[in-house]
Amino acid sequence: MGSESVVQRGLQDVVALESRICFIDGKQGRLIYRGYDIRDLAAQSTFEEVAYLLWYGRLPTAAELASLRTTFAGLRALPPQVTEILDRMPKDANPMDVLRTTVSALAIFEPGETKSGPSSIGGAQRLTAALPTILGHFHRRRAGLPAIRPRPELSHAAYLLYALLNAEPSPLDVNAIDVALILHADHELNASTFAARVTASTLSDLYSAVTSAIGTLKGPLHGGANERVMELLDEIPSPDRAEAVVQARLAKHERIMGFGHRVYRVEDPRATVLREWSRKIGEEKKDLHYYDLLRAVELVVMKEKGLYPNVDLYSGSIYTLLGIPHDLFTPIFAASRVSGWTAHVLEEYDDLRLIRPTAAYVGPPEQRYVPIAERK
Ligand code: ACO
Repeated sequence: MGSESVVQRGLQDVVALESRICFIDGKQGRLIYRGYDIRDLAAQSTFEEVAYLLWYGRLPTAAELASLRTTFAGLRALPPQVTEILDRMPKDANPMDVLRTTVSALAIFEPGETKSGPSSIGGAQRLTAALPTILGHFHRRRAGLPAIRPRPELSHAAYLLYALLNAEPSPLDVNAIDVALILHADHELNASTFAARVTASTLSDLYSAVTSAIGTLKGPLHGGANERVMELLDEIPSPDRAEAVVQARLAKHERIMGFGHRVYRVEDPRATVLREWSRKIGEEKKDLHYYDLLRAVELVVMKEKGLYPNVDLYSGSIYTLLGIPHDLFTPIFAASRVSGWTAHVLEEYDDLRLIRPTAAYVGPPEQRYVPIAERK
């Protein structure tokens, strides 16, 4: 008994598999999808293009992109049985629980051939198209807003905003959400993607893999951090109070959400892009309150802990200015990352190897079994 092996807690620095989808350069602060720098994708492409890139390994032609847009528009509606399940959920339910349970329920009403193996690309597109409808349906019901209309003419980003807010989003708002969706689409073997691949590696279906991933993303150390950032900002009345509030938290050994990363040793490149968008949206809405607070918090955290911002620091400020409630931030992350999760699941099916690491046993030594009548 016992083990001589070295334990890498949290699987830190363990290379678990080969992937062609995403490359993170943690030292240079670069993030690459299928060979393309996310800064170029964020500046020039759309979420639909990026989803295509992740799934098929290359950028689409204009005709392929138009076809994917049509496919998405045709896959947005939910089966009536799933709408009924959504309607029975308590209005105060956690939207990540709603998303996880609804994706799981959706699987029961979907055709089997889109759920595993190479043809699960159909399931990948179905889930990506349907997630905004699930979130919009739940949120509109709890907020007393009218039901979603199909709106096939809207891009994925515009449909997500329309589904959530029941308003015609401005082109700048749509652009901001599109950029956020592009930046969150994939991130190599992050915890939720790993969870999806572990599930798929047992030859389980795509919907089960995405259900695992949603449950994993929900945790505040992963997708839930941007909500917590906004809670911190609510405690800071003005930038000159940032230092005191942050120091008080650090003195209690609390983590400052939106900072630090397992892979990046410099600034997360997604934070760089989102900082700029936080300023841009703040200027457009004539409200730079959150942007100014975040800049102040950044300075203190760098001074006190030497930590750089991650993707979660600025995203919440953008969503809030767009009118999106805080508890929908992580679900929006999921609505983007579903493209990456499913790309990874497809890759896993293509080169399947059961993911099953080992544990170093540190429990009690071997013991003699004592029959229950003799136990004291
Ligand atoms: N605030 C304060 N201290 C921090 C923070 C933080 N945000 N992040 C790391 N540290 C400190 C730790 O306390 C630790 O200090 P110690 O060595 O004195 O104990 C040291 O930095 C190393 O931290 P680890 O937790 O070992 O680093 P790890 O790689 O496991 O953590 C993580 C990465 C979980 C993201 C961490 O930085 C964190 O908790 N950040 C806040 C949550 C957050 O923003 N999550 C979103 C990440 S991005 C994403 O998932 C989309």
